[in-house]
Amino acid sequence: MEHIPIARPAIGQDEISAVTAVLESGMLAAGERVAEFEQAFADYCGSSYAVAINNGTAALHAALLAAEVGPGDEVIVPSFSFIATASAVSMCGAKPVFADVDENTFTISPGQVAERITSKTKAVLGVHLFGQPFDVRAVQEICESKNLVLIEDAAQAHGAACNGEKTGSFGRMGCFSFYATKNMTTGEGGMVTTRDRQSAERLRLIISHGQSEKYHHTRLGYNYRMTDMAAALGLVQLKKLDKFNMRRRKNAGYYDTHLSVKGLITPFVAPGMQHVYHQYVIRLTDEFPLNRMGLMKYLSSKGIGSAVHYPTPIHRQPLYFQEYDPDPCPVSTRLASSVLSLPVHPLLDQKEVAYICDTINTVS
Ligand SMILES: Cc1ncc(COP(=O)(O)O)c(C=O)c1O
Repeated sequence: MEHIPIARPAIGQDEISAVTAVLESGMLAAGERVAEFEQAFADYCGSSYAVAINNGTAALHAALLAAEVGPGDEVIVPSFSFIATASAVSMCGAKPVFADVDENTFTISPGQVAERITSKTKAVLGVHLFGQPFDVRAVQEICESKNLVLIEDAAQAHGAACNGEKTGSFGRMGCFSFYATKNMTTGEGGMVTTRDRQSAERLRLIISHGQSEKYHHTRLGYNYRMTDMAAALGLVQLKKLDKFNMRRRKNAGYYDTHLSVKGLITPFVAPGMQHVYHQYVIRLTDEFPLNRMGLMKYLSSKGIGSAVHYPTPIHRQPLYFQEYDPDPCPVSTRLASSVLSLPVHPLLDQKEVAYICDTINTVS
């Protein structure tokens, strides 16, 4: 069996032709393809507007700025996520306040959100981690009752849904990443979706030097624009997204029914959630025959890639670490030492998933 990588972008001739056509047109910067991609992505998510951006971190930064998050404000974020969820808050001069996650879904705990609210709280940035929506209804209710802005970090959850409604359509804004390993890719890229016209207008200014008319700058802005090459790639990938997600779900379903070793816990999907398995994340308990590093080495010796998302919760990163007693996010800390991601990408075939299951099931 050839080496099975943890992730692999699915790029075909359609993508190559679409990007080549842009290159041949000579119009490389944001133009028609970007506008088309924005409209197609907004329609896909059931949102009114979408603003294309050059990566997911910039999407979060721009969305927080459009929500007027700034110095003196606090934004509640889950500690178990990729660093950008919190660092985007810091980029605005605001303070990320870490909430713990639910042990089963790995997503932000609504109870923890409620506990972390202070007079300085301006927004909640929830993460649809690994492809499963967080408990949007509960968090939405808290935000409405406390007059807080809800922003979704949907970097890992293109096409995921809660009771049939897509991610990116719940909060005031939804932020996506199109990094190479994501469920759909533009190499690097991002998008912010919103139903709020004012937010869309602000985002347009923020991502393009605060420019309201040519060489007329009304606010501080950045160069966060997407290129037409990336958008051309994104348009093709968006058409394939449902098929990619279906394959991810099929691979996950195979793992769910075939992995059976004591001490290995398969992912939990909360009722009403459509999980799109950006990552297939298992948990190992003390009953598993090997420790995590032992299993990773064993898998690697059998040609199987695996990865840890994430080995350190954000509140324990050197960037944010303080002496805590007790640990404010013990579930995140525990998960960081027990989770392991297995390959689930759409290019895997059933034979490879079966081989991975057999390899794990015979660990002793
Ligand atoms: C949860 C989460 N938020 C934000 C980002 C940032 O996206 P990007 O890498 O496109 O800047 C990522 C990407 O890895 C992510 O996984």
